[in-house]
Amino acid sequence: MAKRIGILTGGGDCPGLNPAIRGCVYAAERLGYECVGFEDGWKGIIENKTTPLNREITRDIIMYGGTMLGTSRTNPYKREGGVEKLRETFQKNNLEALVAMGGEDTLGVAHRLYKDFKFPVVGVPKTMDNDLSGTDYTFGFDTSVTVAVDALARLRDTAKSHHRIIVLEVMGRHAGWVAMFTAIAGAADYVCLPERTVDVEDMAKKLKAAYAGKRFALLVTSEAVDLPSVGEGEKQTLDDFGHVVLKGRAIGETLAKIIEDKTGLETRHAVIGHIQRGGSPTLYDRMLGTRVGVAAASFVAEKKFGVMAGLTGDKVVPVPLETAVGQLKTVSPEWFKLAEMMF
Ligand code: F6P
Repeated sequence: MAKRIGILTGGGDCPGLNPAIRGCVYAAERLGYECVGFEDGWKGIIENKTTPLNREITRDIIMYGGTMLGTSRTNPYKREGGVEKLRETFQKNNLEALVAMGGEDTLGVAHRLYKDFKFPVVGVPKTMDNDLSGTDYTFGFDTSVTVAVDALARLRDTAKSHHRIIVLEVMGRHAGWVAMFTAIAGAADYVCLPERTVDVEDMAKKLKAAYAGKRFALLVTSEAVDLPSVGEGEKQTLDDFGHVVLKGRAIGETLAKIIEDKTGLETRHAVIGHIQRGGSPTLYDRMLGTRVGVAAASFVAEKKFGVMAGLTGDKVVPVPLETAVGQLKTVSPEWFKLAEMMF
């Protein structure tokens, strides 16, 4: 009987997951393994919901966004008997290893399983937020920023025609990478990041100055920036991993109101939300997804467990899961220096 690998994708989906699944399946088959997919992240392995995976099934998925396996934010450690059921499913399916594709939460569970039971798991890092430590970039980020830059270009046309300020709100719960890259690459006039409290006076001054020169201005903000007036007294909903669900926080709208008040200039806002998480993966995300997927299957064959396939420079290397989940990679001081030059 062929040796078997299970594959799951957990947390928020992002473009690049399908290329990663495909890379892992292709490499696994070359290395003498059969693959089986679990549906909807950790939920699928708790409930033993499997789906077949092979070369034929995954041949064309490289060009599709999302994940063919489905995903969820289920945490087996928060479900009654979740971890036991997960281990039972693993046995029942005669698996030799599990490849878990996800961000800090999914990989956090993988790390815990490895620590608690020496569970044979290999991680594949993904997140459009690009906030995972132990890897230079995560797939999903490039496609999301490309979508956001395109949205900003469209807002530029209408802002210019109506002589307005427009605020674009992008995702990035704890880290401002998406906002910063969108603002720089899309030639915005100001950026607000979650790593630093917004300096409202500076923001108004700079937007006014930008407007004076060209009669429009653009600002990019992360969905979760720190504004004294937002969040107070707000009833917070937490997900399985303890993250605040940001739905309805309306940062873009709030900033637009503040800007209009402070500058006296007509201001609009736009929220691209989940639009930036869908669509065909860019070349970069197809290639990175493929590379880390292939590497994960190789690590299984080499019995390198408790690691993820991290990108270091131009190499994909095994990085201990502990390094990946210890601390989030937020926008660092040298990137702030760059931002200060640009805005
Ligand atoms: O973690 C990725 C991410 O897209 C964050 O940027 C965002 O805050 C969150 O997921 C949204 O989650 P959901 O899809 O569950 O609304």
